[in-house]
Amino acid sequence: MLTSLVQAAYIIAAVLFVMSLAGLSKHETARAGNAFGIVGMVIALVATITAALRNSSINGFETAALIVIAMAIGGSIGVWRARRVEMTGMPELVAILHSFVGLAAVIVGFNSHLSSAELTGSLENIHEVEVFLGVFIGAVTFTGSIIAFLKLSARIKSTPLMLPKRHLLNLLIVLASAALLVVYVLTGSIWPLLAMTVLALLFGLHLVASIGGGDMPVVVSMLNSYSGWAAAAAGFMLGNDLLIITGALVGSSGAILSYIMCKAMNRSFISVIAGGFGTDGQLSGDAKDYGEHRETNAADVADMLKEAHSVIIAPGYGMAVAQAQYPVADLTRKLRERGVRVRFAIHPVAGRLPGHMNVLLAEAKVPYDVVEELDEINDDFPDTDVVLVIGANDTVNPAAIDEPGSPIAGMPVLEVWKAHEVVVFKRSMATGYAGVQNPLFFKDNSVMLFGDAKDRVEDIIKAL
Ligand code: TAP
Repeated sequence: MLTSLVQAAYIIAAVLFVMSLAGLSKHETARAGNAFGIVGMVIALVATITAALRNSSINGFETAALIVIAMAIGGSIGVWRARRVEMTGMPELVAILHSFVGLAAVIVGFNSHLSSAELTGSLENIHEVEVFLGVFIGAVTFTGSIIAFLKLSARIKSTPLMLPKRHLLNLLIVLASAALLVVYVLTGSIWPLLAMTVLALLFGLHLVASIGGGDMPVVVSMLNSYSGWAAAAAGFMLGNDLLIITGALVGSSGAILSYIMCKAMNRSFISVIAGGFGTDGQLSGDAKDYGEHRETNAADVADMLKEAHSVIIAPGYGMAVAQAQYPVADLTRKLRERGVRVRFAIHPVAGRLPGHMNVLLAEAKVPYDVVEELDEINDDFPDTDVVLVIGANDTVNPAAIDEPGSPIAGMPVLEVWKAHEVVVFKRSMATGYAGVQNPLFFKDNSVMLFGDAKDRVEDIIKAL
């Protein structure tokens, strides 16, 4: 009876998780999506703890108490971190959380190996394959996510590691792991499992280390996908259906997001999941001489905006750092009141996490109908009077189109330089995340407005 109730609760939780994902895919339904996810998780936890309490083959009370204590410790750390993290620090937080899922799958795998003595025959073989694959995926996710964390938090350089014969190296690790799987199933010894774990840890490290800065967004969503498959593998090892379903949902939605981002950035999906496979080893853009840049001030930009009929704002990571979304929303309101057509151009990887700019603009109550995606707005720049580039750099870099040797070559960018006038808000002439110089700053129709983006936008509002 209890088993059926727990299974029923798991099915309801799984349906709620699917509804949560569906809700999160649109602005308007995102809050409801979050609520479905929370309710599903509460049902899943209550069912799991109740099942442990009533399990007569283990000390139910002790197991349930251990689960609750572990949850209280983990939950407190989670709440503490989540409350402190800046929006700009979210990607690295997500990356380090993925590494925990990977580590958990490795630990569950070894625990499963050590406690599976009662299985025999083909059941034992199936279990060994589950353990081996679970540990492999978990170990790759663990070290891959740690490298992603270090790169995203700028603790190590984001330039790709280009070891000689790196693709052959990856291939050899995969083949050696396959051979170790056969030995493991035939002998049941822990040694091939241990040897594969070391190889998989190195594999994860190398896979992410060899991916360049500009491709990091795809890596984050790919590791999200790997962490889902690691959780699903842990579900198989523990015989927990809900963990299998949840892991598969995370794994497949992460894979779909990676695919969408690869398409948006004109990258090959296979090339990114294989650790930069197919890249030609280009490391960084040459320090070219693009000529002189011109500077402007807030009063002149205000005059420029008074004359304009159409304005497009291209926000980027710097807007998030400066928390300039509120004055930007104010400026938008003021210009619209004067009859200026104002729209926002959102690049798919602007900022540091998918949808970063959309979240900031929604927070500042910018209406959704003036926020447009790259492919909706890119043809409109030639008919635009003024473009305000607020803290964006790589996502508006013409080198992606004009310089085939550039590390960001091929990535679609917002073609802001086609507008009549462009104002670039930033603090210095420094490069963006990919470390590539931006020829936009030196174009005849571009001017630089130096300083913190929030301060400069407020100055313009005052001058209007
Ligand atoms: P970036 O290329 O990162 O450039 C941001 C610019 O903002 C910098 O050049 C910086 O110049 C300026 N800035 C920083 N703080 C500022 C402040 N307080 N006021 C004014 N300007 C400020 O930005 P982007 O165009 O949004 O491109 C995003 C990059 O991040 C892409 O390369 C993308 O691949 C990568 N990335 C994206 C994601 C996701 S999922 N979106 C995840 C990881 C990596 P100064 O220092 O001179 O001010």
